[in-house]
Amino acid sequence: MKPIKAGLLGIGTVGAGTFEVLRRNQEEIRRRAGRGIEIAMVADLNTARATELTQGRCKVVSDANLIVNDPDIDIVIELIGGYGLAKDLVMKAIANGKHVVTANKALLAIHGTEIFKAAQEKGVMVGFEAAVAGGIPIIKALREGLTANRIQWIAGIINGTTNFILSEMRDKGLDFQTVLAEAQRLGYAEADPTFDIEGIDAAHKVTIMSAIAFGIPVQFPKAHVEGITQLQAVDIRYAEQLGYRIKLLGITRRAEVNGRAGIELRVHPTLIPSRRLIANVEGAMNAVLVQGDAVGATLYYGKGAGAEPTASAVIADLVDIARLSAADPEHRVPHLAFQPDAMSDIPILPMEDITTSYYLRIRVADKLGVLANVTRILADATISVDAMLQKEPDEGETQTDIIILTHQTQERNVLAAIAQIERLSTVVGKVAKIRLEELS
Ligand code: HSE
Repeated sequence: MKPIKAGLLGIGTVGAGTFEVLRRNQEEIRRRAGRGIEIAMVADLNTARATELTQGRCKVVSDANLIVNDPDIDIVIELIGGYGLAKDLVMKAIANGKHVVTANKALLAIHGTEIFKAAQEKGVMVGFEAAVAGGIPIIKALREGLTANRIQWIAGIINGTTNFILSEMRDKGLDFQTVLAEAQRLGYAEADPTFDIEGIDAAHKVTIMSAIAFGIPVQFPKAHVEGITQLQAVDIRYAEQLGYRIKLLGITRRAEVNGRAGIELRVHPTLIPSRRLIANVEGAMNAVLVQGDAVGATLYYGKGAGAEPTASAVIADLVDIARLSAADPEHRVPHLAFQPDAMSDIPILPMEDITTSYYLRIRVADKLGVLANVTRILADATISVDAMLQKEPDEGETQTDIIILTHQTQERNVLAAIAQIERLSTVVGKVAKIRLEELS
């Protein structure tokens, strides 16, 4: 059988990695796919660099439309990013009957429903293994390997930049801004790191996993998104003393509020018991923990970014597509795991309805009765205290920190209690609140 022909839109880091891994492992990939996979064309505005990277092995153009409109191209690999031009090209490729492989999490978390519908109607595949957790085959695990399970929850460290920053803050006791500057200098963080540090990139990824896990449409605008920019080194230290690590987690979970089903969908800094495996995922690594009713907990760990780890996921999708014609043309896995006519309309819950535990740091004047007032407010709000830490004021200081870990409660209770605590005359400034997940 002739090789299947792919066109690559954008040959940056991941595109170059894809080109190189396909070249290096072509023989094994051909044996697995049942036919060869050839990148026949590359589109990039920097044609000189693209020509150098591809060393005359394929045609290089600057206009991506030449690829999406070329009748000889079977698969379009979209590695441009963003949701403007990339969406336009993906929709054109689908309309032209081409399969699509993309690493573009932002595009799918926002426009996935429209894109998958168009692909379904045209009978083409949209592969997006590379969009979530880079080289970790989490889409395949959720969509196929765990398909017997009723998924209960997923919690993931799915942004390497922020995990690197948190690891450095913990190891070196440095504050956020200092570590961010260092991460940028080392090339771990983008020049504009907003999507990473504000939790948006992680929210795109958890939105996609939530849809696959629960059979719901992708609904990024309903995700609660909180990054690490407000996190203070002091909270990382206190958490450590209490036996916890702070990680930026993407969490999605089945829940029930007042007898009605809903889905929690949230990204925020989270305390995790330090004895959990996932709490020990350090540096730029990613990990995803999935709880299924039959299998129990499974943990997936690996590189969430980088040229060849991400290329590994891109090529897995290319092989799946090549197999459609080479191996088993009837075999199709739905984009979001559930058949499109069997999707559920179970709602994403507002943040006040979610249930979790909390770490609270309260700056107080060291006066008689302060602690009693705080615990009375918590008790009145039906919030039960799990652990507490009160530091002696430092030499010459009249203020100190009270650290409280709560048992599970609804977010609305905690918000109400914090508002009351902040009104106490003995409380200084804002209460720092970080959610805590036992992940057991
Ligand atoms: N910027 C992402 C991260 C990688 O830091 O993990 C691409 O999704």
